[in-house]
Amino acid sequence: MQQFYQKNDYYKVEGRKQTLKEEQLCSLLSSMSLKEKIGQLIQLSGDFFSTANLSIGPIKKLGISPEFVKLAGSTLNVVGFENIKRVQDKQMEVQPHHIPMLFMSDVIYGYKTIFPIPLGFSSSWNPDLVEKAFECAADEASASGVQVAFAPMIDVVRDARWGRVLESLGEDPFLTSIFAKSMVEGLQKNLPCKKGLVACFKHFAAYGAVEGGREYNSVDLSLSNLFQNYLPPYKAAVESGAKMAMTSLTTLNGVPSTADKWLLTDILRKKWGFNGVIISDYASIQEIIKHGFAEDNEDAAFKSLSAGVDIDMKSPVYASGLEKLITNRKLDIKKVDSAVFRVLRLKNDLGLFENPYFGASTTREKTSLLTPQKRELSRSLAEESMVLLKNENNALPLNNKEKMVLIGPYADNHALNGMWAIHSSKKDTISIHQGIKRFVADIPTEKGTDLRRDSKFLENLGFLSEQEIKNMVSSEEENRNNLMKAIKISQKADTIILALGEETYEAGEAGSKTKLELPKNQIHLIDELSKLRKKIILIIIAGRPLALENIIDKVDAILYCWFPGSEGGNAIANILFGFKNPSGRLTMSYPRVSAQEPLYYNHLSTGRPQNSSKGRFVSKYIDSPADPLYPFGYGLSYGFVNYTELKTDKYVFTKDSTINVTVKLKNSSDFDTTEVVQLYIHDKVAEVVQPVQRLIDFKKVKLKRGQELTIHFNISSSQLTFFDNRGNEKLEPGVFDIICGTNGKQLLTTTIRLK
Ligand code: BGC
Repeated sequence: MQQFYQKNDYYKVEGRKQTLKEEQLCSLLSSMSLKEKIGQLIQLSGDFFSTANLSIGPIKKLGISPEFVKLAGSTLNVVGFENIKRVQDKQMEVQPHHIPMLFMSDVIYGYKTIFPIPLGFSSSWNPDLVEKAFECAADEASASGVQVAFAPMIDVVRDARWGRVLESLGEDPFLTSIFAKSMVEGLQKNLPCKKGLVACFKHFAAYGAVEGGREYNSVDLSLSNLFQNYLPPYKAAVESGAKMAMTSLTTLNGVPSTADKWLLTDILRKKWGFNGVIISDYASIQEIIKHGFAEDNEDAAFKSLSAGVDIDMKSPVYASGLEKLITNRKLDIKKVDSAVFRVLRLKNDLGLFENPYFGASTTREKTSLLTPQKRELSRSLAEESMVLLKNENNALPLNNKEKMVLIGPYADNHALNGMWAIHSSKKDTISIHQGIKRFVADIPTEKGTDLRRDSKFLENLGFLSEQEIKNMVSSEEENRNNLMKAIKISQKADTIILALGEETYEAGEAGSKTKLELPKNQIHLIDELSKLRKKIILIIIAGRPLALENIIDKVDAILYCWFPGSEGGNAIANILFGFKNPSGRLTMSYPRVSAQEPLYYNHLSTGRPQNSSKGRFVSKYIDSPADPLYPFGYGLSYGFVNYTELKTDKYVFTKDSTINVTVKLKNSSDFDTTEVVQLYIHDKVAEVVQPVQRLIDFKKVKLKRGQELTIHFNISSSQLTFFDNRGNEKLEPGVFDIICGTNGKQLLTTTIRLK
């Protein structure tokens, strides 16, 4: 036993094939100094390990002692086998017990092969495919030395102004929970053979409910709302075996999540039985001082560790506060020991004590990144994620005999990966032009205008250099010429494919905005092209729902493509030309105008709903309809499926029985199609007023042209519970509407009674 900790490279000790036993881990823990223990609870970024002189640079900036850099137990966003080997070797050399570091990273929707953004893949309503995508992302990232993914992000969102809706699965807690399970399982599936990643779900809790959609703002929620709408996905991640959790940067009901004992210990650990590692979000422990919840680093360290945070991500607080707290006996060493033990146990579970590079190797990097199979998976998911919002007079699919042009700032642009694809390269991404060229080899192309022409706006995005902004914004004259060139080639065409949307950094962390409409210059381009009276197919690349009311009448079809990832261009072209029938359905409600936000389908009934006969005095806006432009669940396909005969096998049922629901589908179109059959309930009377509609199940089915199909659902009483204002789950007898349909619009309803 001793030998493991004396020699450097003890992991190479001959004959060691097994992970450490629990007693061995305990003995390792007891042989560690207090400083070493604290080191295991500190996470630093890669720049700390590439600086030769430890007294300058990042160390000075963060304000931690060089000693703790040597003892740090984990790092973030260091990737690539050679890189991690260098850092790991150096760190193990100086760590007194040669304990390996954990390498964590933001593998949010792909590593090198990029999938569509999560808001896109929830629109696929295909959790099995998403599980495969996460398995694939884990395979790639583990080949490059990553061991923990800061994913899945499963914050329920209801406000499209928040930039991070891009990383979310949308506004529905049931759907987000289903995807939470598939993402955790996909990431962790191949951990035993070192080709998986530890899933670190985030951001616990309810980060998605920031007030006004403004980044890092406060969250204030009733307990019934919190338990019913925001907590279920995190619970699903715990039940699926996620080994790590990340706190949120925000306060929840006045308490910073990073120091919320009720949330982290009472709910997460005790009530849900989570025994993995909890990490703070970036600098969030130090930020509790700014929130006004702790006086100084020492107080912040005490509050966060006591609340249940094991690892301090990129802040000086644990490094500067914990030692004093222990020596002054203000904090029980047992608390530190438990946190350190959880970190060591995770390292041991991953087998790092045998092989500190986990699954990484140059050979795996050469053979497993961006393979044709992985690209194919990315393409399938992109195709399934895209949502056809409008298709007037069957404008789509296109016939390659039509004379077409491709216009717009996204026409010939490889920036289709979105903000969080931080390890990918644009050059590996198929542009729309490349995708379309497979069908129409010589399609004329012009950009027509810039993505954004407002330099101040681009500067505010915070990522772009002055030079980059200069390159992005053409001069007035150039812009006029771009427009003229676009008009000129469009005049000769029958069909204009117009590719518009958001700039990469407009959506994602710190990408909150108040205007969800397309920018003026893009609208001007639509206006000018629509004067030509040609068929216009609008492709939108974006990370959030945009407010499209001001342009929908000017185009014939709209295909919403998200940031579609590495195979984006091919996926888009396959749909445009009818090789794939679009089947994506929205997972966020689309506003008509920005000021409708927050907007979500599962809102409570008001006493004066819009359709009641109270004239002026109903719940509405006087200058705009209150309902969404496109509702949750909406999306078109080529062809149409009719729903009839929504029936249940009984009207009354008891707590211990189930009820069978059937509905008939008929594909009366000329296309084979895929349909997402959605089942909702409405609890008519309850102790806490219930949403007008709440998704409880769905089925994604294929129908050949002309085919009829009967779909079955089983409802049990466990799907009809709700949470009261103390956070208790309740089941009340009474009448429930059962609502089923397509497009979130054409819905059939029947009722059942729970005795
Ligand atoms: C984000 C997290 C991310 C972390 C590490 C933070 O700013 O909120 O989601 O995992 O940075 O990059």
